[in-house]
Amino acid sequence: MKILVVGGAGYIGSHMLRRLQKTNYKVEVLDNLSTGYEENTLGFQFHKCDLANKDQLNSILQNNYDLVMHFASYINVGESYLYPQKYYENNVNNTMNLLNCMVDQKILNFIFSSSAAVYGDPGPSPISEEENINPVNPYGQTKAMVENILKDYDRAYGLKSTCLRYFNACGAHLDGTIGESHNPETHLIPLVLQAASGRKNSITVFGDDYTTKDGTCIRDYIHVMDLAEAHLLALDSLRSKQISNIYNIGNNIGFSVKEIIEIAEDVTQRKIKINIESRRKGDPAQLVANNKKIKEELNWTAQYSDLKTIISSAWQWEKKLLQSN
Ligand SMILES: NC(=O)c1ccc[n+]([C@@H]2O[C@H](COP(=O)([O-])OP(=O)(O)OC[C@H]3O[C@@H](n4cnc5c(N)ncnc54)[C@H](O)[C@@H]3O)[C@@H](O)[C@H]2O)c1
Repeated sequence: MKILVVGGAGYIGSHMLRRLQKTNYKVEVLDNLSTGYEENTLGFQFHKCDLANKDQLNSILQNNYDLVMHFASYINVGESYLYPQKYYENNVNNTMNLLNCMVDQKILNFIFSSSAAVYGDPGPSPISEEENINPVNPYGQTKAMVENILKDYDRAYGLKSTCLRYFNACGAHLDGTIGESHNPETHLIPLVLQAASGRKNSITVFGDDYTTKDGTCIRDYIHVMDLAEAHLLALDSLRSKQISNIYNIGNNIGFSVKEIIEIAEDVTQRKIKINIESRRKGDPAQLVANNKKIKEELNWTAQYSDLKTIISSAWQWEKKLLQSN
């Protein structure tokens, strides 16, 4: 079997490549390096290509792939409010380019990086896949739109897909060689650790007046290596059953922002300065995954998603980044 990993030079895609290296699958990578790093693709055939370039995309997709994993998109929720065009163009139009080339080349298996952002501001957590999707920001809209397009492409062209709705991806590879390096970084754990290492002065907490146990937002944190494992199980299931499906990937446990900071202080043995600001638009109080479906149907269990392992691995990575700066 031959797999094309689109967006494999980025944070989650690079951890996927590491996991795929331990399989017998043939794996190639496509990325435009807009937010990814070429060194993350070492050891794989790498196609530098922008999904907007239909001609180049078409010629790459003639390489007899059986399945495409699609990690490439813009990911910054705040930026998506400011520049929705950028998000709809890359996350929707460019994904359409990819899907259309796949259909032309009869590559009919697709794994899509969706997001908990499709739920918007849902009812009480934990949230199951049955919950209505109702995104509240352009980023979430782009993910919901692709999920809907995939339903139509299955009906019309037989393109079978698995949409994986990630909750908060975090942590770094336990071997310390790859990790999260978004620029600008907007995710809580790397920002907290930058405040611990001294790369930032403090961590800004947006809102401490939510109706949660300590007033700060509650999220579900999932280690990136557990995410990669879920993709592999999804791939096997998709290939054998040929049924399109949607799964949450989360830990079924919520932690507040304050709890994350406390655990980070414990792991790093440093005091972290906190700066409280008002709530951000579109941040629900609580987003926690019901992960029953992926556990029961794909036999997935999280192995690395206890907060100590997540934060220790991310701290090891942060110290490496600090040395290389
Ligand atoms: N990080 C999270 O917590 C999280 C949560 C939910 C969903 N997701 C989704 O997971 C996926 C991967 O996220 P990530 O954190 O690894 O992001 P990332 O920015 O680190 O990786 C995205 C990769 O895609 C590439 N890319 C972007 N646009 C491209 C284009 N037009 N052509 C070719 N390559 C392109 C980038 O260069 C980068 O290597 C995204 O689709 C994101 O929406 C991430």
